[in-house]
Amino acid sequence: MKRLQQQIAIVTGASSGIGQGIAIALAKAGAKVCVNYRSSEDGAKKTLEEIEKNGGEGVIQQADVSKPEDVKTMFQNTIKEYGTVDILVNNAGIQQDASFLEMSHDDWQKVINVNLSGQFYCAQEAAKEFVRRGVVEDRSKAAGKIICMSSVHDIIPWAGHVNYATAKAGILMFAKSLAQELSEKKIRVNAISPGAIKTDINRDAWEDEESRNKLLQLIPYQRVGEVEDIGNAAVWLASDESDYVQGQTIYIDGGMTLYPGFKDNG
Ligand code: BGC
Repeated sequence: MKRLQQQIAIVTGASSGIGQGIAIALAKAGAKVCVNYRSSEDGAKKTLEEIEKNGGEGVIQQADVSKPEDVKTMFQNTIKEYGTVDILVNNAGIQQDASFLEMSHDDWQKVINVNLSGQFYCAQEAAKEFVRRGVVEDRSKAAGKIICMSSVHDIIPWAGHVNYATAKAGILMFAKSLAQELSEKKIRVNAISPGAIKTDINRDAWEDEESRNKLLQLIPYQRVGEVEDIGNAAVWLASDESDYVQGQTIYIDGGMTLYPGFKDNG
């Protein structure tokens, strides 16, 4: 029996990058996946194609996670289709970079709305469904699992990305506080903090050799991450193998958070 057999997962921002990798990984582990996208229907279709190619099952659902009404509808539709939700991967996120003095109010607000408030709206809908349904024997020891996508920039300050780093630092405490509050309902909440993973969001940092070499100076393990590195961890966090893991943020970063600049300095 597959690790996530009979379980229903919603993955936000699953039309590209890390979200796409996670959706495919969860489906391979047996979950039925709601592939959420905001603007790239083509990307979401690709994700679903890949899921089906691997013998999995899923549906596509458009929703902007920064809009509470969209989020409600996404949960309602998924529950209508599959009966319930067992796993939420709060992945949707954006970067809207600018130097601090030039950062517009819109740059600030959009990133906070999607990367921080969006996770709140989705987690609240998920938690309501987990509480309504409770634990189902034979499916999972928990009533539900929430995985929040954070970043190494929840602890590594990032000039030129103050909106993004602030939102991610918020996610660190969001996940912990939620885990503390929802534990008695048998809901597990954990976060993943990826380092540099090869996706479109940071293509400039890894595509050409010069940029990649510069980036590798920040990665002791000397390789840029792949979406599968994060997908594997998400499957584990969603499964009962991690049933005693609660309120943790797991750094999957090839050592980026180990202050590599101190190796021969300080
Ligand atoms: C950002 C990427 C960046 C990585 C490491 C991620 O959270 O989205 O753009 O490459 O952190 O700095």
